[in-house]
Amino acid sequence: MKEQLMAMRRVFGDRLAQVNTRAELEALRVEFLGKKGQLTTILKQMGKLSAEERPVMGQLANEVRELLESSLANHSEQINALEIAQRLKAEKIDITIPGKKYKLGHKHPLSIVLDEVKEIFLGMGFSIATGPEVELDYYNFEALNIPKNHPSRDTQDTFYITENILLRTQTSPVQIRVMEKQAPPIRIISPGRVYRSDAVDATHSPLFNQVEGLVVDKGITMGDLKGCLEAFAKRLYGEDTKIRLRPHHFQFTEPSCEIDVSCFRCGGKGCPMCKGEGWIEILGAGMVHPKVLKNGGIDPDVYSGFAFGLGLERLTMFRFQIDDLRLLYENDQKFLNQF
Ligand code: DAH
Repeated sequence: MKEQLMAMRRVFGDRLAQVNTRAELEALRVEFLGKKGQLTTILKQMGKLSAEERPVMGQLANEVRELLESSLANHSEQINALEIAQRLKAEKIDITIPGKKYKLGHKHPLSIVLDEVKEIFLGMGFSIATGPEVELDYYNFEALNIPKNHPSRDTQDTFYITENILLRTQTSPVQIRVMEKQAPPIRIISPGRVYRSDAVDATHSPLFNQVEGLVVDKGITMGDLKGCLEAFAKRLYGEDTKIRLRPHHFQFTEPSCEIDVSCFRCGGKGCPMCKGEGWIEILGAGMVHPKVLKNGGIDPDVYSGFAFGLGLERLTMFRFQIDDLRLLYENDQKFLNQF
């Protein structure tokens, strides 16, 4: 029996030297120390021993078991160390490899100009109002003093959802919506999309953007209109910019005007940008028509106001000298990356 134990110990030693993985180690443990393992098999012969031999063999068997167990534990630690070393090697990061480049997006030219416009008016104490793009005929036309069948509707044909629901042709309906909700003093701008049944060309699109403005308070005059919009033009195009008011007609303002700025390219001498005129039209404006104030629930005998509307695409095209409106909508990276 002693020889058997010694032989087992030797074989175990040889086998352990070849173990490389945790699974192999466990298999070896079961084979030698398990319930049906080699040690148990040898110990089954204890019964055949004499009473004097038994404790001696018992002690030897225990020593062998302890040796096997400590060898297994030792080897397990070696495997651990090996595994860590392998992982460190496999997960090594090569910090000399160039990093991934993330391309940062940037603002669309329309957004650049819109943000500037907002900034200027917010600085003058205006706030921002919004209204729906799918609008009632009432707000888009009727309440703005444009009755059904009025000829001024001809230039603002649009997309009708029903007879009385349409895609708004202008941001002016927001004027009425704001007046209905808010008592004077009112000082708002309202940027947003508008729609017209126009064919696409270099200066027309069925969808474009406007910025509406509305000021209502006691004692507002044409002087306030001029002062406010002159300040706006100077902030947008530079201190040397001059403005000029030309009489015009809008149904919802009286009197009405169009506002030109001195050409920011030639300073007024005349160049291709201003078509030799020296002036460039940037917006329509006027004193809010008494009927419109009334439709908004405001007493025109107590309050007065001015309004204006500008086309964002037009402003952007002048600003960046873009000669075709379509470029603003085509999402051509070669174009957009210039801004
Ligand atoms: N809504 C007008 C248009 O689309 C622009 C406009 C002109 C707005 C005069 C105004 C204004 O508020 O007072 O042509």
